[in-house]
Amino acid sequence: MSYKNFPMVPRVIFGRGSFNQLNEVLAPKRLGLNAPFIFLVDDVFKNNPWLTSRISLYYDDRIIFISSKEEPKTSQVDALVEEIILNTKERPSGIIGIGGGTLLDLAKAVAIMLTNEGEAKDYQGWDLVKNPAIYHVGIPTISGTGAEVSRTTVLTGPDKKLGINSDFTPFDQVILDSELTKDVPKEQWFYTGMDCYIHCVESLKGSYLNAFSQSYGEKSFDLCKEIFLEHSNPITDTEAQEKLMMASWHGGMSIAYSQVGVAHAMSYGLSYLLGTKHGIGNCIVFDQLEDYYPEGVALFKQMKAQHGIELPQGICAHLNDEEFDIMIDVSLGLEPLWENAIGKNWKKVITRAKLKELYQKM
Ligand SMILES: [Fe+2]
Repeated sequence: MSYKNFPMVPRVIFGRGSFNQLNEVLAPKRLGLNAPFIFLVDDVFKNNPWLTSRISLYYDDRIIFISSKEEPKTSQVDALVEEIILNTKERPSGIIGIGGGTLLDLAKAVAIMLTNEGEAKDYQGWDLVKNPAIYHVGIPTISGTGAEVSRTTVLTGPDKKLGINSDFTPFDQVILDSELTKDVPKEQWFYTGMDCYIHCVESLKGSYLNAFSQSYGEKSFDLCKEIFLEHSNPITDTEAQEKLMMASWHGGMSIAYSQVGVAHAMSYGLSYLLGTKHGIGNCIVFDQLEDYYPEGVALFKQMKAQHGIELPQGICAHLNDEEFDIMIDVSLGLEPLWENAIGKNWKKVITRAKLKELYQKM
């Protein structure tokens, strides 16, 4: 038995307004006048000087605004890397991702691909990255995905949806400023928050569970219950925003040393075929998983009702057999997730017919 030697984010700043410290954090990391910092920022902040005016641009530094409407793609990473190489005199001093899971994952992937040859799709998998990434910083503006702590960067490629899992993937620096999450719309707040909640349920109910994962997972699970069931105004309440930021962190830490489960495995299928975003996809799947996570799903339905969330129905209604097969193939390909969820004999329990039946309900 060999245990994982898991790399953690070495530096973190936590606190309301800590985004103001960004410039002083970056200054000593500048490698030269021709080696800029590239800021990848969610384009919802494009006309938002409250955020952008606090990013000081020197020399050739620049902001690239990116839409997070779609899940990040390997081709998008390759295009960004090419654009950065063509427009900078020297290798950049660093990549700073500011946004949700999509922007954070893109920042990690771009930082890796600036020092590794080939295309991003070549590195989808486990430990395929050869060279250390350039300095990269993650600044979440929505809480739940755990992308700020994870050792992966989930990407949709030409033939699979899979992350670049490597020791070089985690951020060198994270800034956790809950104030940046203050304007997240309710639906997104809920779906992304539920990504965190589902990480906890899948980790805590999985066969890979151990004391490391459990200690983080239980804390995060309790925080989710407080935020989504007890706070009177959890979206606007500062304390709840800070709690959700830490729930996301702990949820990410919990799955780092265990694994996610059925909801994630099936949601990857939806996302690959239909482009369903991760948070909402997880919710659509999890809503149907009472056989696998009875207590977790019951509590989820309670949270959903309390916040007046209505999930889209019938997103698989028009699909043909071939399309169901594509989703089932993507989902079954995520073997560690199934092994964690069901156990070593998962292949006897999880049949193609079973998955099709579940997808047909969504
Ligand atoms: Fe997730």
